[in-house]
Amino acid sequence: MTTHKVTLVFEDGRVVKFDASEDDNIYFACLKNKVRILTDCLEGACATCKGVCTSGTYYMDEFTDEALTAEEFDRREVLTCQMHVTSDCVIELPYESRIALKSKPDTRNASVTEVEMISSNVARLVVKPDPAADPVSFISGQYVHLSVPGTDQHRSYSFANASFETGKYTFYIKVLEQGAMSDYLSNATPGDEMTVSGPFGRFYLRPAQRPIVMVAGGTGLAPMLSMLDTLVAQEETQQPVRLLYGANEPGELFGLDQIAGYAAQGLDITTELCIVEPVGAWDGATGHVTELLRPEILNGGDCDVYLCGPPPMIDAAEAWLVESGVDGSQVHAEKFVPS
Ligand SMILES: Cc1cc2nc3c(=O)[nH]c(=O)nc-3n(C[C@H](O)[C@H](O)[C@H](O)COP(=O)(O)OP(=O)(O)OC[C@H]3O[C@@H](n4cnc5c(N)ncnc54)[C@H](O)[C@@H]3O)c2cc1C
Ligand code: FES
Repeated sequence: MTTHKVTLVFEDGRVVKFDASEDDNIYFACLKNKVRILTDCLEGACATCKGVCTSGTYYMDEFTDEALTAEEFDRREVLTCQMHVTSDCVIELPYESRIALKSKPDTRNASVTEVEMISSNVARLVVKPDPAADPVSFISGQYVHLSVPGTDQHRSYSFANASFETGKYTFYIKVLEQGAMSDYLSNATPGDEMTVSGPFGRFYLRPAQRPIVMVAGGTGLAPMLSMLDTLVAQEETQQPVRLLYGANEPGELFGLDQIAGYAAQGLDITTELCIVEPVGAWDGATGHVTELLRPEILNGGDCDVYLCGPPPMIDAAEAWLVESGVDGSQVHAEKFVPS
């Protein structure tokens, strides 16, 4: 019996993973794992169980044209009651997790191993999950809830390390003048305990099948570094990556050495930096990072675009991309709203 890892991503960003046999359709595999996805006919006729397979290979049993048209099939839409996976797969379902799941997200105890300021306003936080429990595994680009030590609150942070590194997790966190996590980080010490809960998020690295454009504002670079670390480790990745990265001032930039290292490791990457308020010896581009977007970097619309940062940056980039003819299904975004 051959099994593969199936990752279901619900509309609210919650993720559930389980092993599925090639012999079982996804509906049965879900039942075996206490996940009750939406179904009705179970015969491939009603489309109630429809989702989108964003990564991996599969085949389908019988289904009607009414339930799944040829165009939908080509867009990798799937009827999960007829779908059998033949590799690890990620399937997005268009409804909230509470409909299908009774359990809570995985929560792990973790301890702080490193904390330091790495730019004028960004802290690097490294935490090690309790080695006695299974690690929280994620797809690059996703985020978790970190509890704020000494409070009953939590905040959302994107993993900045590669998805295959689950022994410790790295986060890049903008330190505000005042804020629960920001205040904690000013006094954080290695050995402090916190919880890591998740993963969550529909913003994650898709299979690299076309050129990639990444636009990062501030600590929006964090999930991009996770994706780039993962891409660079995938030896078969041939697609070029263009990273547009912006900050308010030059002193806020971080991760530049890590980014420079990707080319040395064989990734075809071009990086452009942009600063809103140039001070000191800055002689690079100025303005908002979205001003670096221009038609010639879109490969005629055949590219995957990843956007992460403050909401106005995402809104501006999405509006421009739509106007420029990039299909919305190729644009993936995470807004760092207050969490
Ligand atoms: C999915 C997701 C992923 C995220 N990932 C990251 C990440 O990887 N790195 C990261 O730095 N942040 C990330 N954030 C933002 C993060 O969750 C917190 O909102 C942020 O760190 C502020 O937390 P705090 O406890 O210090 O401040 P809070 O106590 O939450 O807020 C204090 C005050 O500051 C305001 N505020 C909150 N955020 C900002 C901001 N960015 N700029 C200005 N004012 C603000 C609040 O409205 C409030 O008035 C993410 C948010 C989401 C939703
Ligand atoms: S449940 Fe009707 S098509 Fe799958």
